[in-house]
Amino acid sequence: MRAFSGIRPTGELHIGNYLGAIKQWIELQERAECVFCIVDLHAMTTPYKPERLQKNILELAATYLAAGLNPEKCIFFVQSQIKEHTELAWLLGTITPLGELQRMTQFKEKSKKHPEYVNAGLLNYPLLMAADILLYKTEVVPVGMDQKQHVELAREIARRFNKKFGQVFQEPKALLPKNGEKIMSLQKPKKKMSKTDDPRGCIGLFDEPEEIKKKIMTAVTDRGEIIKYDPQKKPGISNLLTIYSLFSRKSIKELERKFKNSGYEKFKKSSIELLIGSLGSFRRKRKEFLTREVYVKEILEQGRKKAQIIAESTMAEAYKKMGLS
Ligand code: TYM
Repeated sequence: MRAFSGIRPTGELHIGNYLGAIKQWIELQERAECVFCIVDLHAMTTPYKPERLQKNILELAATYLAAGLNPEKCIFFVQSQIKEHTELAWLLGTITPLGELQRMTQFKEKSKKHPEYVNAGLLNYPLLMAADILLYKTEVVPVGMDQKQHVELAREIARRFNKKFGQVFQEPKALLPKNGEKIMSLQKPKKKMSKTDDPRGCIGLFDEPEEIKKKIMTAVTDRGEIIKYDPQKKPGISNLLTIYSLFSRKSIKELERKFKNSGYEKFKKSSIELLIGSLGSFRRKRKEFLTREVYVKEILEQGRKKAQIIAESTMAEAYKKMGLS
């Protein structure tokens, strides 16, 4: 089974990216052929600083390593280093109706957020993402909930291509974690945790203990003092319970029992301790990888070479079927 996924190098990652995506990747690399990408071309569709991009790419590579991705067990590389991604995106664009791209929730949301920056790249974003996925004949795409619609579009495009030109691509499926597919903001628990919204609602994977403490202590909770999972009536506490459960590997039922008579403050203090402990080792490992730039670049280069072989071969098939060679 082949798995593919990617993250945009837009700056610090948050625990939503980890719990929704990377945590699944670590488990998958043990049982699937995994390709993980640093999708720098996607990072350019919203405002960004060119002079920071290379640093962000390297930091994301160090993060992948710190989180436990093993270059012996999976391939990881930088998207822009393999030209076939943009080439295939062009081909896929020729068989995708405009309306399907305009309907994408993320396109609508991002256009609203950056009305001064509604570029054609933002509209074509899902085509490049479909190319990323299809180029590796991917079967499963481990992502969080917000990317499910894009993966479904990639599936539709694969089906259409195969029907029109002959079988080349696998039809990929999104793989969402059982829990944690949508980690919510600590400040607005009905909205997704995100790097660009209120930073107080977003715990960075590399936040210092003091920041973690402040963010959890000021996290919005709900009326009452009972620790109970009920996303409709108690979205704040339910989100904290989900986060606690995923980091501690204890079920939500078990946690409800454990904190039955504790009240919010005691529960929050225990959450702080858990998060500081869990994220501490990440922080240390990433720092160490950041001092080994040559090593990290070498791993990306090895990944590029392996990915290139697969990408070239799929691209040749697609060209041939479409009458280009
Ligand atoms: P990106 O960089 O926005 O996010 C990376 C991953 O983190 C997940 N995620 C979350 N999961 C749970 N709760 C949250 N609050 C949360 N916020 C983010 C995302 O679902 C994602 O899995 N378009 C993609 C990158 C991409 C890609 C691909 C992914 C490009 N090509 C091919 C898979 C396959 C993106 O912008 O992710």
